[in-house]
Amino acid sequence: MTSKLSITEAIRSRYSVRAFLPDPVPEDVLHEIFDIARLVPSNSNTQPWHVAVVSGSARDALEKRIFERIGAGEKPSPTWPSGGVGLKGDYKQRQIDCARGYYEVMGIEYEDRPARQKLLLNNWRFFGAPHAAFFSMPETMHRANALDVGIFVQSIMLLMAERGIASCPQGALASYPEPVREIAEIPEGNAILCGMSFGYEDPEAKANEVRMDREPLARIASFTNEV
Ligand SMILES: Cc1cc2nc3c(=O)[nH]c(=O)nc-3n(C[C@H](O)[C@H](O)[C@H](O)COP(=O)(O)O)c2cc1C
Repeated sequence: MTSKLSITEAIRSRYSVRAFLPDPVPEDVLHEIFDIARLVPSNSNTQPWHVAVVSGSARDALEKRIFERIGAGEKPSPTWPSGGVGLKGDYKQRQIDCARGYYEVMGIEYEDRPARQKLLLNNWRFFGAPHAAFFSMPETMHRANALDVGIFVQSIMLLMAERGIASCPQGALASYPEPVREIAEIPEGNAILCGMSFGYEDPEAKANEVRMDREPLARIASFTNEV
């Protein structure tokens, strides 16, 4: 069902959800969302994005296969370095604050590494969501093309928000590409940029009380009128 959220309201009200109800999103709603997202702009209309959605028993099998690898001690091996690599200064600090905010709500001390590790694993349980999406583009492409995929991903999150569907974009879902390739239909020659868990929010879950703040406008934009 489509709500009456404006784009402004959808952007203001969306947040990352990390605990979901098991109920699946109806297939016609899913198809509608991705069909509208096709219309977003891209560099020279190259449309480099591909999304592979995994649901039902395929979703469960994928979770199992990823955990078999984690259990065997396999380290994450994303095709491209994750967004957390090489952060410095303010960016590093924001990453730390983001993690601290999440741990605080979950009652975990920042110094408690085993508890943090356990929480991290929820990424590959898709936070209990009934669906996981994997966003890929040709491996030969570059950062400018990833920008197009980012536009696609955010548009999908907003279309979902409009329909009362919660989501969590996840760089973590690019960490174990092999089992994803075994189960999801990733086009030949594509590499995974990120994933997304989605479904209906568990309104009782603590994890969903997390709210991240943002830098003020003056720190992220400049407006020059005269030289
Ligand atoms: C590209 C991208 C990758 C992300 N990767 C993860 C992830 O692997 N795990 C996770 O829990 N959250 C992940 N997030 C969610 C961010 O932590 C979240 O968007 C940020 O803290 C702002 O919070 P909000 O989405 O609730 O507004 C990711 C977000 C983006 C845009």
